[in-house]
Amino acid sequence: MKYKIERNTAYDFAGQSYASIYPNLHKYPATMLPQIGSKVLKDFNIATGVLLDPYCGSGSSFASGLECGITEMYGYDINPLAILISKAKFTKLSIDELHQTRQQLRNEIFEFLKDENNVNKLVIPSITNIYYWFSKEVINNLTIVKYCIDKIKNENIKYFFLISFSETVRECSYTRNSEFKLYRMKSEDILHFNPDVIGMYFKKLEESFFIYGRHYFPKLKNDISITLKNSVFKAKPNFYDVVLTSPPYGDSKTTVAYGQFSTLSNEWLGIKYARKIDAMLMGGTNNKGIYNKGILADYISQINEIDNKRALEVSAFYFDLGDSITQVANSIKKGGKAIYIVGNRTVKNVQLPTDQFIAEQFEANNCSHLLTYERAISNKAMPNRNSPSNIMGQTASTMLYEYIIVVEKRQVE
Ligand SMILES: C[S@@+](CC[C@H](N)C(=O)[O-])C[C@H]1O[C@@H](n2cnc3c(N)ncnc32)[C@H](O)[C@@H]1O
Repeated sequence: MKYKIERNTAYDFAGQSYASIYPNLHKYPATMLPQIGSKVLKDFNIATGVLLDPYCGSGSSFASGLECGITEMYGYDINPLAILISKAKFTKLSIDELHQTRQQLRNEIFEFLKDENNVNKLVIPSITNIYYWFSKEVINNLTIVKYCIDKIKNENIKYFFLISFSETVRECSYTRNSEFKLYRMKSEDILHFNPDVIGMYFKKLEESFFIYGRHYFPKLKNDISITLKNSVFKAKPNFYDVVLTSPPYGDSKTTVAYGQFSTLSNEWLGIKYARKIDAMLMGGTNNKGIYNKGILADYISQINEIDNKRALEVSAFYFDLGDSITQVANSIKKGGKAIYIVGNRTVKNVQLPTDQFIAEQFEANNCSHLLTYERAISNKAMPNRNSPSNIMGQTASTMLYEYIIVVEKRQVE
């Protein structure tokens, strides 16, 4: 395979952020700029058909799809918080019902607080090390808000109200908000930390109403169908016309800790396996040996010479990504396209050509590589410096560019 990368500055979107077109309802690590997805769909004249994002996170590819007129979309993610965020953004809700429910919720909470004895009836949820992450008062107030949200009967409306709850959990906990991983605030900061949980919750809800009403609701016409599943993607042969996704670029332990970022929220949302999510994500289990095929063989062998454990971790990720691409490729209709947006991480000073690996895997599964664009990363909501030693504060410059890989399913197998 002759592989060509083209630097394309039109995809840099310098100075633009996610918020400039589709503000997010909830923080999420490593979000993709919806502008990139929209541009690539437009450049390839894709405005119809069925779209898939097998690792959809907070759902930016659906924003791109909506911008281009695509009406039927499917998303998968193992992280329950990711699916909750995507559902809240891309489910059509009645604005009147949202307002009425907010008023009912206010009343419920008010009634609950009127009787002091009620607090004794609260069942504190089982959160790992709960008193390490939250003060007693915060725990009580979060429990009251959650208890009242759980009474909302319309499930979709309830999901929407849980988004602001999840943001409140994060901001009222002792986690350092600037970090994606779970780090506790300094002790001196904890002494002065006394958040008003209920006030913050309703403020966040207000902001969510505004964003949803202005940026999402108007685009969710009646013919739009976006189906979201909290699971790993499994092949559905010849079903999708286009795949648009930004996959993880390494395992969660050493790159972006999606599970860890979401742990406290997921636990408050009642997810029993919240602490295990990072191990369930791509590259989470590393018992598959050294990856020694194709373009990656030499690179991983270099890492293996320096550090066998790291080489095994890296290999596990590519085994999983390769298997997943086989499922995805099988699910694309003939002539359909897959667009993957990914960064190439560096491990032990070896930069891994993940973009070429993706193209190679699709080539091996009845797809032809059409092109790869290189774009400079500017405002992406992800660290472009990481901690190779996993020690906080020690960073190395990693990805300055991202790659947009476009492949097409062959007409003849
Ligand atoms: C780069 S993020 C996607 C971000 C998304 N484009 C957005 O804008 O929010 C990658 C996602 O892949 C998910 N993930 C990792 N391994 C997965 C797997 N095996 N199956 C499904 N999702 C997975 C992670 O939970 C994470 O949400």
